[in-house]
Amino acid sequence: MKLTSIMPTRINLMDGCFTAPEIQRKTTTLGNLKGIFANSVAWQAMPSELTVYHVEMLPSPQQEGELYVGTTHLHPGRVGHEFFMTRGHFHQRPEQAEIYFGLRGHGLLLLQHQDGTCSLERVSPGSVHHIPSFTAHRLINIGHKVLSTLAVWPTVAGHNYEALQPRGFKLRVLVDGEGWKAEAQYE
Ligand SMILES: [Fe+2]
Repeated sequence: MKLTSIMPTRINLMDGCFTAPEIQRKTTTLGNLKGIFANSVAWQAMPSELTVYHVEMLPSPQQEGELYVGTTHLHPGRVGHEFFMTRGHFHQRPEQAEIYFGLRGHGLLLLQHQDGTCSLERVSPGSVHHIPSFTAHRLINIGHKVLSTLAVWPTVAGHNYEALQPRGFKLRVLVDGEGWKAEAQYE
């Protein structure tokens, strides 16, 4: 019997770019992130079309048991004293977990559980992050280069941005000299 092999989809682990015929892409600009940053005056003064992050993902069947794989590229930048970050979300099905891998750049993964407790994990090339079920998650770029992560998550997980409203995440990560500090916004 003659066996054949196929060339699989590839990812460049240095920059998180896929080589695949069908890639779904989504760009999120500053203008899409109204109400996300603490300093609304600074946010309004910046170009609304400025890209904050873009996502690439491979198509996958929308059925129980299937997985998505995708990358998030979060640009460096600040709004006032706050670093560029993703909108962040719970999953629409909050019991569904997710895995992140750091590929390039330096950042933080903010995790917030349903009881309001938070934690921050350092994201860097080679870091592996388990986002448990019932946990909201947000990436924050504390570096000067693009922060890229690879993610794997159930196709049925979905996104729920409303569950964090009206107060948003409890922690904000702000510039502190050459570094960063986290400040609680509420108890
Ligand atoms: Fe997620």
